[in-house]
Amino acid sequence: MRIYLVGFMGSGKSTLGKRLARKLDYPFMDLDTEIEVAAGKSVAAIFDAHGEDWFREKERELLHRTVDLSRGVIATGGGTPYYFDNMDFMNAHGVTVYLKMSPLSLVHRLEYARKKRPLVSDLKGEELSRFVREKLESRAPFYNRAHCIIKGESAKPAQVAALVFGA
Ligand code: S3P
Repeated sequence: MRIYLVGFMGSGKSTLGKRLARKLDYPFMDLDTEIEVAAGKSVAAIFDAHGEDWFREKERELLHRTVDLSRGVIATGGGTPYYFDNMDFMNAHGVTVYLKMSPLSLVHRLEYARKKRPLVSDLKGEELSRFVREKLESRAPFYNRAHCIIKGESAKPAQVAALVFGA
């Protein structure tokens, strides 16, 4: 069983993913971290040095490698489901869980966590708010194809586990 957590930047995929993995005694994998290790650079430095297209190719390559794990909790990047056939891939190779959060909560959380995220690092206030609303609108159709949808603001590992194993 592979559990893929999807959702916008700042929706808590990594935090919840670690706690869920601990609860299930599954390995935890953070796709951004895998990319950083493979490239030997932070996500921000990858965008700077190679550009976003290169990052997306790497993201897809490492997503495909998650099938080497027979079980695990995988926190994906906010853009992962939107590119290539990544969402179909995750749906075919595991159970997908969308941590759904309101634009207001996302903006609030991202205000304090922008620096390591190149797409929002230079945005604040109204600009950040507009970016989040617009990006979420274009990505939501992909997130909504997840097997399970859960309210990100209050998601608990036990609740995700019940959803996934009942799915
Ligand atoms: C991105 C989200 C980030 C990271 C990169 C691009 C996106 O992951 O993959 O900065 O396109 O939404 P998090 O969702 O973990 O912040």
